[in-house]
Amino acid sequence: MKKIILCLLFAVFILPMKANEGMWFLMHIERLNYVDMQKMGLKLTPEEIYSVNHQSLKDAIVQFGGGCTAEIISKNGLVLTNHHCGYGQIAELSTEENDYLTNGFWAKSYAEELKPKSLSVRFFVRMDDVSQRILGKLNDAMSEADREKTINQEIAKIEKENNDGGKYTVSVKSFYNGNEFYYFVYQDYTDVRLVGTPPSSVGKFGGDTDNWEWPRHTGDFSIFRVYGDKDGNPADYAETNVPLQPKYHLPISTKGYKENDFAMILGYPGRTNRWMPAAGIDQNVNYAYPAWVEASKKAMDAMKVYMDKNQQVKLDYASSYASIANYWKNRDGMIQALTKHKTADEKRKKELIFNRWANSKVKGNNLDATDIKSSSSLMGAATTKAPQTKTEIEESLKYSGVMDIINDYYSQTNQKSKENNYLLMALRSSKLATIPSRMESMLSQLFSDKGNDFTTEKFLMKNKSDIDNFYNGFYAPLEEDVYKTQLTLYTTKTNEPITILFNAWMKYKEGTETFDAFIENAIAKSIFSSQEKLEAFILNPNEEQFKNDPLLLISKELFAKYRYKSEEDKALDDEFQKAYRMMIQGMREMNPNEKYYPDANSTLRLTYGKVLPLPVDKRNDASVNYFTTLKGTVAKYKPNDDEFDMPQKLIDLHKAKDFGPYADKAGHLPVNFLTDNDITGGNSGSPVLNGKGELIGLAFDGNIEAMAGDVIFDPELQRTINVDVRYILFIIDKYAGAKNIIDELTIKK
Ligand code: ARG
Repeated sequence: MKKIILCLLFAVFILPMKANEGMWFLMHIERLNYVDMQKMGLKLTPEEIYSVNHQSLKDAIVQFGGGCTAEIISKNGLVLTNHHCGYGQIAELSTEENDYLTNGFWAKSYAEELKPKSLSVRFFVRMDDVSQRILGKLNDAMSEADREKTINQEIAKIEKENNDGGKYTVSVKSFYNGNEFYYFVYQDYTDVRLVGTPPSSVGKFGGDTDNWEWPRHTGDFSIFRVYGDKDGNPADYAETNVPLQPKYHLPISTKGYKENDFAMILGYPGRTNRWMPAAGIDQNVNYAYPAWVEASKKAMDAMKVYMDKNQQVKLDYASSYASIANYWKNRDGMIQALTKHKTADEKRKKELIFNRWANSKVKGNNLDATDIKSSSSLMGAATTKAPQTKTEIEESLKYSGVMDIINDYYSQTNQKSKENNYLLMALRSSKLATIPSRMESMLSQLFSDKGNDFTTEKFLMKNKSDIDNFYNGFYAPLEEDVYKTQLTLYTTKTNEPITILFNAWMKYKEGTETFDAFIENAIAKSIFSSQEKLEAFILNPNEEQFKNDPLLLISKELFAKYRYKSEEDKALDDEFQKAYRMMIQGMREMNPNEKYYPDANSTLRLTYGKVLPLPVDKRNDASVNYFTTLKGTVAKYKPNDDEFDMPQKLIDLHKAKDFGPYADKAGHLPVNFLTDNDITGGNSGSPVLNGKGELIGLAFDGNIEAMAGDVIFDPELQRTINVDVRYILFIIDKYAGAKNIIDELTIKK
């Protein structure tokens, strides 16, 4: 009887994973996903998506600037990505006089394109599985340190074997927390230039208010071009460089889509934690994220005062402000979503079943049907035989204590995770906190063996460009305020602040000196509080003063605190690492029939699904809740508002309904749309492709309802927010009049 029930349950619960969940490796598509994808509307062959020897989709997908995705859209190396991905470069190229961030920029010829200081794109050449090779060198008796050493040795060999004499960058990464390994071969191009960008009022329409929200009306795109030498090889910037002739570029479809149409996305998702245990989620919700959110908001408020007063300051800090704001809202959204959906409880149930399975192997207990019912994805090895031989017993004991170790680790690190986030945000948001430490070794050369022809002038000359970089866009009043705010917050929120600050805090408590006065005094005395002061010091150095510089002392102690790990901490970390790896291994062993995909870790993935509305009732301008139109943009328009202003020309085009060939059949200009693809940060700028592999949009965001997505995929709520490619073309063509760009594209009407 039991067997029959189990069989039935097996049939019910071992359904394929919801089609839309999963960030898949290209080399596994054929085996794991292809049949499914075809059923859903894919017309390409697996070879047309990923082939090592022939041109395929993968040749048009690049990692952009290390943290985003982009795609090649012309035979002359045009690169399309999000506006928020090019944001730092656009801001860097802007000045008060030529404010491209505010007004947009469109190069009419190659010669007008602008080269940012540093920007690269990374092409994907191939990948392969090296799990057996690496795991074969390891054994269970190894310490974590030995394990790591052995892995790194093997990785070094693999990298060398595959880099083709330095032509390629090879990266070997661990998946499923050290249970599998793959290598990736890349080719990096470092001469990448800005070709076009809409004004912020289009590219960032809706600002932080609309960020992570649907319905959305943002033209979040910008255009760059990759250059190489005349043979098409990567080369540092040179006037003689020429636009790259890529192996493949994406055709663009202006035909649009309808609900349930197939949609796939290729890109570089940054990080997910889908295996994260319940206790880890609890830690984030209750300790780590609230600290992050609080410290971010404090930094943002302090920055904004100065950014609002001065346009150059606004440009200089635009990018770091946007990134702090982006995560501030994201982490806050995660706290809400994880709490609302009781995500940790869900996971805890599965862990309970896993634990029983692990122990049942020891005792020979069978799980009963109720266990299995409560967890569809933790099925499979429900009937286990009691272990017989010694090795069987050892083997069966393998997973029995794993969850305890994991839970213990989190309970011991809760407080630290909170303190570290206050500290980290201080280091992230304040240059005064970081610059002194980063410059220490360079400056200490002023006092070491200097050689015969040393002069302080020469020293300054030699290090000038580094110093310029450190102080690039440094605005002292803002920096001082952020520094004060962050250090005060950190000091008041931690049980063990760094000594210098703790002493100052004590003095404040005793009424001797206010904490603000202490910090102001430290800034006033320091050689690091402005570039002028630092350069004057270099010309006239004094070792005692340097060694006792108050900002240097604080900076060093902050970094030391952040990095500090006692021997016990290290042992705890090692035990946890091992247990986490075993947990994943065990869970997979328990359910051998499931299809698994590894957590995101900035490697190229494909996710497929469909165009789909969000079943959350929110006001939307379009008749259906899976796309928005320009009408909705205009409805949100607030003249001169920081976030909801619109360029006059766009308003005029809307009034005249002058949409060119880009309107849909009903005469509306589509702006953004939704798909149920499984993406995360890092996928920004990824192409959304139809069944024929044609570009229909650009992924740029997720929705706030699904912020739990990085630890659990919710097919009901998780959506990707995309810019419709027709809106992109409309802005380039009708708004900017940049026909030169349109002419380069391969458009399928
Ligand atoms: N939430 C988007 C992401 O993480 C970034 C959007 C940028 N836009 C903005 N208004 N901050 O990819």
